[in-house]
Amino acid sequence: MFAATALQATGKPAQYAELAEQVRGLLHGEHDRTANAANFAALVYHALPDLNWAGFYFFDGRELVVGPFQGRPACVRIALGKGVCGTAAATRQTQVVRDVDAFPGHIPCDSASRSEIVVPLFDGERLIGVWDVDSPKLARFDTDDRDGMEALADIFLHSLKAA
Ligand code: SME
Repeated sequence: MFAATALQATGKPAQYAELAEQVRGLLHGEHDRTANAANFAALVYHALPDLNWAGFYFFDGRELVVGPFQGRPACVRIALGKGVCGTAAATRQTQVVRDVDAFPGHIPCDSASRSEIVVPLFDGERLIGVWDVDSPKLARFDTDDRDGMEALADIFLHSLKAA
């Protein structure tokens, strides 16, 4: 069984690089989307500090539907263009939200959430879904988190392709 170890590196870029290695190891050799999404969410949720939700919404051809996650039960369906998740999917841009109460149309799932980052997941032109992480701390996420989360999401997307 894969054993995740606590991150040793100092500084966000180095920590994300270390976490990326752990994610590669965890997903290695497996291509199943549910399995990899579940393990990915569990690893990241437990590795990084100050998170209260981490998980996936997948596009079902019409809207975003909640997938594997860690945290409290969440809203199930999000329309494209709605909330932070639907905005990330519609604009294809990672959304770094320092204060969720200041984001127009933010969809509150866990009332503890104060800041949020959402990375859109695309396979070329095809929308796969979004990777969504919430924090109980205001301004928890910065551009280092954006770069790090985008790199992690990329590893997840690549893991879905059969060798
Ligand atoms: N806050 C998100 C909804 C999903 S929960 O955070 C898990 C949004 O505004 O899209």
